[in-house]
Amino acid sequence: MTSGRPGMDGALDALHALFDSAAMGETYGEDISIRAHMLQCAELAAAQGLGDALVAAALLHDIGWGMAAGADGHEQAAVDLLLPLFGAPVAEPVRQHVAAKRYLVAARSGYGDRLSDCSRDTLAEQGGPFTHAECADFERLESFAAAVALRYLDDTGKALDEPQTCFADYLPLLRGLLQIHGKSQL
Ligand SMILES: [Fe+2]
Repeated sequence: MTSGRPGMDGALDALHALFDSAAMGETYGEDISIRAHMLQCAELAAAQGLGDALVAAALLHDIGWGMAAGADGHEQAAVDLLLPLFGAPVAEPVRQHVAAKRYLVAARSGYGDRLSDCSRDTLAEQGGPFTHAECADFERLESFAAAVALRYLDDTGKALDEPQTCFADYLPLLRGLLQIHGKSQL
């Protein structure tokens, strides 16, 4: 297999192994595995034409659950993994996907009522709805729109149907994003 950057395929192999690890087959209060949930989110992002970075963010947004001890710090663990590989377009929406829930509960009427029981239960642990000032700060983030888009995918990708794709289907997309980010670092 050829690659445009030394170590690129090694990085993707490691990501693939983590994605297919037993930890990703666990559930976290929802009725589907974390892996199936992330695949469904990626499928929704692709179907909605949201772009490669957001498809990758959707595919990998909960990967930190396999690296960190439970919910605490799962976004940061994912960001630590994804930022060096793919840069901000993938990593920042992942960093903000829990904050985006706190934003949407405060800023979009009816959003909180549509959350799953699990998402509603964890909201308080995550700090509760943003204040007006926190909402204004959040809206100024460069990743604001992508973070909100990822959040809606996160809320939707919880169907009980089996996902239609697997990690390997996204390798060309991920390899392309790795190359783009690698070139930006030269
Ligand atoms: Fe999620």
